[in-house]
Amino acid sequence: MRHIFFPIKLKLTLWYTLFLIIIIATFGITIYFSVQKMTLVNEDAFLKSQTAQITSSIDVENGKLTTDSEPFYTNTNFYGALYSYPDMKLLESNLSKDVLNRYIDLKNDFLGKFKTIQIGDDTWRIYSEPVYADQKIIGIIVLAQPLNLAEIAMNNLFQLFIILIPFLIVISILGGFLLANRALRPISYMTKIAREISMGDLSKRLNLPYTNDEVGHLAQTFDMMIDKIDESIKKQKQFTNDASHELRTPIAVIQGQAESMLENNHDIEEYKRTLSIIFDEARHMGKLVSNLLLLARSDSNTDKLNMESLNFSELLEGIVEELKPVAKSNNVDLCLTKNELSYIYGDQTRLTQLFYNIIDNAIIYNLPGGHINVVVENNGYYIKTSIQDTGIGIPEEHINHIFERFYRVDKARSRQSGGNGLGLSICQWIATVHGGKIDVISKEGHGSTFIVWLPAKSEKDR
Ligand SMILES: Nc1ncnc2c1ncn2[C@@H]1O[C@H](COP(=O)(O)OP(=O)(O)OP(=O)(O)O)[C@@H](O)[C@H]1O
Ligand SMILES: [Mg+2]
Repeated sequence: MRHIFFPIKLKLTLWYTLFLIIIIATFGITIYFSVQKMTLVNEDAFLKSQTAQITSSIDVENGKLTTDSEPFYTNTNFYGALYSYPDMKLLESNLSKDVLNRYIDLKNDFLGKFKTIQIGDDTWRIYSEPVYADQKIIGIIVLAQPLNLAEIAMNNLFQLFIILIPFLIVISILGGFLLANRALRPISYMTKIAREISMGDLSKRLNLPYTNDEVGHLAQTFDMMIDKIDESIKKQKQFTNDASHELRTPIAVIQGQAESMLENNHDIEEYKRTLSIIFDEARHMGKLVSNLLLLARSDSNTDKLNMESLNFSELLEGIVEELKPVAKSNNVDLCLTKNELSYIYGDQTRLTQLFYNIIDNAIIYNLPGGHINVVVENNGYYIKTSIQDTGIGIPEEHINHIFERFYRVDKARSRQSGGNGLGLSICQWIATVHGGKIDVISKEGHGSTFIVWLPAKSEKDR
C-alpha cells in the first residue's frame, strides 16, 4: 500500500493547533464564567446591604407597617416593593407588574434568596427579606436591580472572545507552521543531498552551519558518515587497482616466457630455466592472491580467528629457528638474545605470520654481513617483542606509510625479493585484532627496529 505523504510540519502544526484551541477555549470559558459570577456576587452584596438598610428604616407603629410617610425608594435609585404580612397586601412599589407577579409566583421558596428573572428583554436580580416587629414577621420587602448593564458587559466580553480567539488561533497556526518549517528545513535539504549521493555523487556534503541541537547533530553525523563511505570506497578502488596492477606483472612474465618457449625448439637447460622463472612467478602470484584474500576477509570481518592459550616464548623461538637458514643464505646473522617467559591468548597461525613477516623484512632489507637481534620482554601486562636489524633503514618520509597496502619504499628492490607491500598491513591487522600495536624506529642507513606490543596472559589465567 502506498502511504500518502503527510509532512511532519503539518502534523506538528495540527497537534499544536489542537492543544492551542483546547487551552484558549478553557481559558476563555473560565474567564467568562468567572467574570459573570463576580458581577452577580457584587450585585447580590449590594442588594443585601441595601435591603438591610431599608428594613431598619421602615416605619412601624403598634406592630404594624405604616404607609404615612414617603415610600422607602423615594429619592433613591432602587426598585422595590413592600408587602404587609401575612395578608400580602402591596403597600409600596415602584416595580413593574410583571416583576411583582413573577415574585408572587416564587415567594414561597424565595425569602433570603437571590433570583434572576427574565421579563421580556430585561433581566432582573431580586432579593427579599422579612420585616420584623417584636420578633414577628409583619411585612416583606423586595428589592430588584436590573442586570442589563452587567449583561451588556458580558456580551461585549463574549463578542471580544469570538473575534479575538479565532484571530489568535490563526496567528498562532501561521507562527507554528513557520517555526516547524524553519526547524525542519535542514531535513528536506538532507533528503535532497542524500538522494544526490545515492545517485553516485559521493563528493556532496550538507556543510550546514553547526547548531547544537538534534538536527545539527544529525547533519554532522550524516557528513561524517558520507566522509567514511567516500574514503572506504576510494580505498577499495585503490586496492582493486593496485591488486590488478600487481597481478599483471607475473602474468605478463609467465605469458612471455611460455610464448618464447613455444615458438622454437630449445635445449633442455633453457626449458628448465624458463620453467623455474614461471614457477617463481606462479609462487609469487600465489602468495599475492592469498595475502589479498586475507586482507579482503579482514576487511569484511569474515576471517575467524582461532583463539587459544599459547606459549609465546616457544612460538617465537620456533619462528626464529625456522628463519635462521633463510637469514644465513642472505648472509645475515639472526639471534634471539632475550626471551622472557610469556603466554598469550591468540591465533597461532596469524601470530606466526606476523613475526614471520617482520623478521622476513629484517632479512630482506638488510645488508650482507648484517645482524638481526630479537628480544622478548614481559612486564606482566604486555609482551614487548623488538626486532632490531642493521639493514638499509627507512627514510623518515616513508615511515608513516609502510603499513599502507602495496606501499614499498623501493619498488624495484621489493619486487626483486618477491614483495608486494602487503606484509606490514597484514601484520598491523593481526596486531590490532589481538589488542596490540606495532611501533617502528628507523634511520636510513642505520637499520630499523620494529616493536610489537601484545597483551600478555596473566599468571593466574594460565
Ligand atoms: N626492516 C626493514 N628495513 C627497511 N625497510 C623496511 C623494513 N621492513 C619494511 N620495510 C619497507 O617497508 C615496505 C613495506 O613492507 P611490507 O612487508 O609491507 O612489504 P614488502 O616486504 O615489500 O612485501 P611483502 O611483505 O608483501 O612480501 C617494504 O617494501 C620496505 O621498503
Ligand atoms: Mg614484507
